[in-house]
Amino acid sequence: MNAQRLRGPRYTVQGGAVLQGNVRISGAKNAALAAMCAALLTDEDIVLANVPDISDADSLGELLTSVGADVERQSDGAMRLNGGGVRTFEAPSELITENRASFQVMGPLLARHGFASSVPPGGDVIGQRPIDVHLVGFQAMGATVGRVGERFVAQSNGRLHGARIFMDYPSVSGTQNVLMAATLADGRTTIVNAATEPEVQELAHLLNAMGAKISGIGGQMLEVEGVERLHGATARIMPDRIEAGTFAVAAAMTGGDVVIEDAPVDVMDALWAKLRAAGALIERRGEGCVRVVRTGELRAVNFQALPYPGLATDLHAPMAALLTQALGVSIIHERVFDNRMLYVSELRKMGAEIVSTGSSAIVSGPTPLNGAHVRALDVRAGAAVMLAALVARGTTVIDEVSHLDRGYERLDEKLRGLGVELKRD
Ligand code: EPU
Repeated sequence: MNAQRLRGPRYTVQGGAVLQGNVRISGAKNAALAAMCAALLTDEDIVLANVPDISDADSLGELLTSVGADVERQSDGAMRLNGGGVRTFEAPSELITENRASFQVMGPLLARHGFASSVPPGGDVIGQRPIDVHLVGFQAMGATVGRVGERFVAQSNGRLHGARIFMDYPSVSGTQNVLMAATLADGRTTIVNAATEPEVQELAHLLNAMGAKISGIGGQMLEVEGVERLHGATARIMPDRIEAGTFAVAAAMTGGDVVIEDAPVDVMDALWAKLRAAGALIERRGEGCVRVVRTGELRAVNFQALPYPGLATDLHAPMAALLTQALGVSIIHERVFDNRMLYVSELRKMGAEIVSTGSSAIVSGPTPLNGAHVRALDVRAGAAVMLAALVARGTTVIDEVSHLDRGYERLDEKLRGLGVELKRD
């Protein structure tokens, strides 16, 4: 096996394309992963349309299968999950550490079977990513939570009970985990300082379709009236706002003209505001469709990555790549994760003028970027180097694209469809 095959696939990208045409957005990674975990709350079928074909969904599917669930891609592309056969409540370490979302099997397993055990979750190395919010929530509902070696073990004597829970931080997966557990608890649970991200709202709607009684969806205070059992449901996963945002940035950055279809346009206000301020034209075209065009120069803008409805932390790195092409000095503050700056070293290799100090970055532009040999260090840092490669002079080779595969479905095909010359090998 040669050295390249050991490193996994790479992209070779020719710079200089001006993106033109239409692109269709896939299902949202983070909504799909949470919905898949919700299948553990019932022994009836959960059928999810629009689950993206990404490696994070595959690895979570493997994890669910390993605890006894039945997971199947149907011929129409939908995913059918059935948690009726779950007999093991110990999630295997190697699958949990691959994927941050997999810790979300804890809430459903604990609520339905009174026992759950897992090593701490994996995922991108983008900060400390603690899980205290999840554990405090389980404890408030009556579970005992302890550590056995590396593993967290949560157990309850009978049903969990409803509680008033304050989340120290409005954690997305923490809210989802505690919310799922609360659906089957005895009595009423109030989650104060809940995350309001659209993917959390989506999960709450799915749980209600399964028979849960959740109110306050979309707000920072969720009320859950526990029920004895949940039943099967069918849902369509919302489109991915981060993928849509990445293509919008690509259009603006290359001076292109792209129509983004099946996009969750109404939950992307922060990005639209920043792209407009940077000089792009954002034209809404009815339900789920937006055209992004840029004819003039890009201008510097400052932004902060914040919980929803602020600008998503997952769009921080793509926006930073865009700002390397904007006139002036842009200041970025990352307010969600403490290590979201992995893209900086890679963009600097291509000639970008960026300095980062702790959780802030200063970008001076415009700087011509040059093709280079770079790495996709996490899924969004990978998106940033791909965006930089689109405007670079010459050829860029991006290694470790397995990170991009975790969150972007058929990225190469979609970019080719917009006029980019790139190959994957
Ligand atoms: N936090 C705590 N305590 C906790 C949990 C989190 O202090 O118990 C802190 C973290 O340290 C971090 C902040 O809360 O500083 C945000 O973490 P959160 O728990 O909200 O993030 P997450 O649930 O681990 C999800 C997405 C991320 C996305 C964030 C923020 C999934 C599987 N992942 O992560 O997506 O960036 O919410 O919106 O839903 C990605 O798609 O690339 C990605 C990383």
